[in-house]
Amino acid sequence: MQIPTIETKEVAKPGSTVWFKEALIYQLHIKTFCDANNDGIGDFQGLLSKLDYLKNLGVSTIWLLPFYPSPLKDDGYDIADCYNVHPSYGTLDDFRQFLDAAHNAGLRVITELVLNHTSDQHIWFQRSRRAVPGDPWRDYYVWSNDPQKYSEARIIFKDTEVSNWTFDPVAGAYFWHRFYSHQPDLNYDNPEVRAAMFNVVDFWLDMGVDGLRLDAVPYLVEREGTSCENLPETHAYLQEVREHIDQKYQDRMLLAEANQWPDDAVAYFGKGNECHMAFHFPIMPRIYMSLHMEDRYPIVDILDQTPSIPDNCQWAIFLRNHDELTLEMVTEEERDYMYRVYARDSRARLNLGIRRRLAPLLNNNRKKLELIHGILFSMPGSPILYYGDEIGMGDNIYLGDRNGVRTPMQWSADKNAGFSRANPHSLYLPVNIDPEFHYEAINVEVQETNLSSFLWWMRRIIAIRKRFPAIGSGDFQMLAPTNNKVLAFTRTYETQTVLIVINLSRFSQAVELDLKPWAGWTPEDAFGHSRFPVIKDTLYPITLGPNIRTRFNQLHATVPMVSQQGAQHYQC
Ligand code: NOJ
Repeated sequence: MQIPTIETKEVAKPGSTVWFKEALIYQLHIKTFCDANNDGIGDFQGLLSKLDYLKNLGVSTIWLLPFYPSPLKDDGYDIADCYNVHPSYGTLDDFRQFLDAAHNAGLRVITELVLNHTSDQHIWFQRSRRAVPGDPWRDYYVWSNDPQKYSEARIIFKDTEVSNWTFDPVAGAYFWHRFYSHQPDLNYDNPEVRAAMFNVVDFWLDMGVDGLRLDAVPYLVEREGTSCENLPETHAYLQEVREHIDQKYQDRMLLAEANQWPDDAVAYFGKGNECHMAFHFPIMPRIYMSLHMEDRYPIVDILDQTPSIPDNCQWAIFLRNHDELTLEMVTEEERDYMYRVYARDSRARLNLGIRRRLAPLLNNNRKKLELIHGILFSMPGSPILYYGDEIGMGDNIYLGDRNGVRTPMQWSADKNAGFSRANPHSLYLPVNIDPEFHYEAINVEVQETNLSSFLWWMRRIIAIRKRFPAIGSGDFQMLAPTNNKVLAFTRTYETQTVLIVINLSRFSQAVELDLKPWAGWTPEDAFGHSRFPVIKDTLYPITLGPNIRTRFNQLHATVPMVSQQGAQHYQC
């Protein structure tokens, strides 16, 4: 197997247009975070009151899930009005106030741009379904009299939907939808739709939003005889969007949600002229596989399959999010394995995935939680944290759909976990009272007071990541020691090299690393600053403790060294 090497040339500097390369993104839904008006639903005023918490955690960017007016049948991804705020969460002015406050606190904000579809309650769809043939509104959506059209497109929500077509009695025709049958797909062959979405982009970017996550972006265009995913016409439109924002705005970012294999996902970067970021979906389940198999192979293998990306682009990497842990980008064998080891209870399975939060997935094992974040924070890409995972929140698989991972944030042992003073029956979802993850024990307040808590550990590792730009932005070089239970790699930026050594096993391991290029350098543990023996021109032995450990070692040159080109001077 080829050893993956990833070069990162353009590094984020203060005020840089590639700020997203060093971003640490915190993902939350406004309704889940903090309820200021005590109606049982989180709101912008509540989020405003928690900005200090996010700042102290050390994240740099907040990604807000959809907060627009919506019937909320798909948690807001069914948008009924792209230009406003759902009344339960506040007003447009509240949003503006939040955005300004976030910017003043040095935090960037990413919001959702749902290009692919709207709610069936959207005025565009209401007009479209009533339009007589020939009326321009009809062409806003994809209509057909033949529900066999585009039959090669897969069904994504396969537990709920039987077809990508649904008959609309008002229109007397079938409309196309890649997701729920209440989410009709917009028609990107219609120039009016393309232009209408530019207006939506402008509305939010004019307000000052820093980035847009492009939801469900592979499915914009349909063509017979294809899977209707990743089509050239879709890429062409995204390049138009990019050109549009590059001409009008500075420093903005587009993040593609393309749940695809690396080769197809990479296409969303274009030649550096499409999206700035794209989620790396396939690496996520492989991190879980490596952890359970105690073998680095799945991670190394997927990185090996990942093409290099343009200099001005960056992967977004994550462990969990608001959806099921998707197993679409794995082989059938790998999916069976993941179900067997991570979702024995069939209630935990949904569509092609697992609807669990991180802590329960890892049996609430603190060492594994630390290890998996060690991987997340050091792999190539900007990491995304899902709200509540920083305190090890649990889930509730007895709630329908993906609601089990969307319960209220646990702030304290007070009523409703300190999330709201409302009548508990009026909460948008019940707080977690599972004996192991009960909000009285797992909450921010309790963890604030205990310096050994997971929350404090997260703050420390985030601070370490920030201290070493090489971890976020440096060139990535996988090492290939003979012991497969050890994952080891270096991140190098200018004079800084960080060696990351991870023992995937529950038992102690010895490993010999080829660190010859750093002969004469001394590793220093980034957590405790202890120094280790100087690296020589031979294999470098390291032993890792009996439990799963992550070690970040900063490499120091003990004697000034001259690089191969003889140009660069390295010093302690
Ligand atoms: C992807 C989102 O992450 C998911 O929550 C949503 O259901 C689908 N897109 C449809 O919008």
